[in-house]
Amino acid sequence: MLEQLAEQLKKVKDEAERLLAESKTIEAIRQAESRLMGKQGPLGSLLGQIGKLPAEVRGAAGKEINQAKARITELFAAAKTALEQAADKQASAEQTFDPTLPGPVVPRGSVHPVTAVQWEVEEIMARIGFVVVGGPELETDYYNFEALNIPAMHPARDMQDTFWLTNGWLLRTHTSPCQVRAMLRLGPPLSIIAPGRVFRYETEDASHANTFHQLEGLMIDRHISIANLIAVMKLILTEIFHRDIKVRLRPGYFPFVEPGFELDMQCGICGGSGCPTCKRSGWIEILPCGMVHPNVLRSGNIDPHEYTGFAFGLGLTRLAMMKYGVADIRGLNSGDLRAIIRPEQRSGAAIIDKD
Ligand code: DAH
Repeated sequence: MLEQLAEQLKKVKDEAERLLAESKTIEAIRQAESRLMGKQGPLGSLLGQIGKLPAEVRGAAGKEINQAKARITELFAAAKTALEQAADKQASAEQTFDPTLPGPVVPRGSVHPVTAVQWEVEEIMARIGFVVVGGPELETDYYNFEALNIPAMHPARDMQDTFWLTNGWLLRTHTSPCQVRAMLRLGPPLSIIAPGRVFRYETEDASHANTFHQLEGLMIDRHISIANLIAVMKLILTEIFHRDIKVRLRPGYFPFVEPGFELDMQCGICGGSGCPTCKRSGWIEILPCGMVHPNVLRSGNIDPHEYTGFAFGLGLTRLAMMKYGVADIRGLNSGDLRAIIRPEQRSGAAIIDKD
């Protein structure tokens, strides 16, 4: 009886092996497995017949069938594992994404030409003891005009078209208000520069923008003279343009300086002989400056009998255009990424809460 059973079990095992050899997918293996191992399958029916066997062989028969069942189950499981591993291997061979490759190179942040020039000037000025200060872009009439010797109704107010706020405040039209703020805050002697954005109610064109950058300079001490002013102006320009720069002073009117000057530099394109860039004059107007007006010193709580000083207003945007050959100011303010140049080192100038 048991021999007969062993033979039937062997047949089932052979059948399992044959089915496994034929099955090429996990799904096919599952189907073959349920066909053999299910209740309706050969093993199921053998188990079902155990009850009809004589009692003394029942235990042994049951054991045999269960052992066979376990072996066949193992065969199916091994076949499934082998197929799964092969599928995994193939999938990873086909995978084009390699997580170990270095990522794409993201361009490093770079510096706007105006910022680059600003940092350069900060660096130069820091070397001769100037510190960087800030000031608010939203200013009062007092600091933007009054304290700078431009009283209400003064015609000089028309020199700078102003964006007025309804509360009487304004968007600063120049960085000069930082002069009096610095005097009040630091007291004499002082050497400061104040770079920043300024605003004018202007129609925009290639050389005019309603928002641009200036850098104010102010040096106050005992015995400061025009000679000091010229020396510092020459130094800045020589360092920025990396060559010796010839300068000349012409009288210029600004209410907050007396005397006031327009400082011209010899045209670097033609060397002074005259070309379209310098409008055939050989000179380029670059730096308005002058000796600080006594009234302005007084606004800054400084005694004009004891102290004198010079001030200048460098047009940073204009300087950047000249240095980097930008013909249209709108290119600098438009957010056009082509205007952005390579990163440069941040200046090492001492900075007092610059905005
Ligand atoms: N604040 C003036 C402007 O924006 C420029 C200027 C002129 C500044 C003479 C100065 C100076 O410090 O001395 O038009």
